Amino acid sequence: MIDYKDIKRAANLVTHSIGPADIAVILGSGLGGYEEQLIDPAEIDYDEIPGFPASTVPGHAGKFIAGTLHDKRVLVMSGRVHSYEGYGMDKVTLPIRVMRLIGVKTLIVTNAAGAVNVEFKPGDLMLIDDFINLSGRNPLRGKNLDRFGPRFPDMTYAYDRELRQIAFQEAGKLGVNLKRGVYCWMNGPTFETPAEIRMVRNLGADAVGMSTVPETIVARHSGMRVLGISTITNMAAGVLDQPINHEEVLAAGELVKEPFRRLVNAIIDRLPEEEITEM
Ligand code: HPA
Repeated sequence: MIDYKDIKRAANLVTHSIGPADIAVILGSGLGGYEEQLIDPAEIDYDEIPGFPASTVPGHAGKFIAGTLHDKRVLVMSGRVHSYEGYGMDKVTLPIRVMRLIGVKTLIVTNAAGAVNVEFKPGDLMLIDDFINLSGRNPLRGKNLDRFGPRFPDMTYAYDRELRQIAFQEAGKLGVNLKRGVYCWMNGPTFETPAEIRMVRNLGADAVGMSTVPETIVARHSGMRVLGISTITNMAAGVLDQPINHEEVLAAGELVKEPFRRLVNAIIDRLPEEEITEM
């Protein structure tokens, strides 16, 4: 079990080397490069941060980059780790706890996802309205870290309503066709079977993926506001009569990089100033 002292140690090192941040953006598969526009960037590799996991997946780098964007302090997490890489939930979500301790109040979490909703198509962006956790896991299992949040955190507003509204307004202004829907977290690393996709469609999911939900849960536990955006990279298994592969996921990520960047920038520009208590 990770404890407060370990998290604090990692957070102190991060603040010391790249400074604090108010907003964090987690880049999903294929979305790397967003950090290049930060002004006065400073970066730290995960392997320099005590307790941090190393990303093992192509398309995920493995560093924190902090800098200024629209006069706001932004931390970009380039490369996340997933539970299918063999890491426990503590490791997968340690970066989120560290973000909280360096001052992050708003988390923009992004991912690559398969379309369960047949109205979607590869290259669409989907605002996450809610999630379904079909992984059988929860990152808050174990002793509660009371300094971060309560034993039984509310998930009614997992994805912040005001931030979702801002995202929609900004997408409209930019002419970005932003879909919306429910994201379902599956363990991976196998892509799903067609039967599993029919099941999750019946359960109310619009997109499936292998990330995002653990980070959302841990961020909400500690009171951060969360906005989630999926890049639809492929039709989920069985929608088309063809196999799915990671290369197409990365290639579709490349295609949406520019609308993604413009949308996230516009959202960051609009983010309200937040008060958050010191921990
Ligand atoms: N399933 C799960 N995760 C994914 C998919 C998918 O079809 N596409 C991108 N990430």
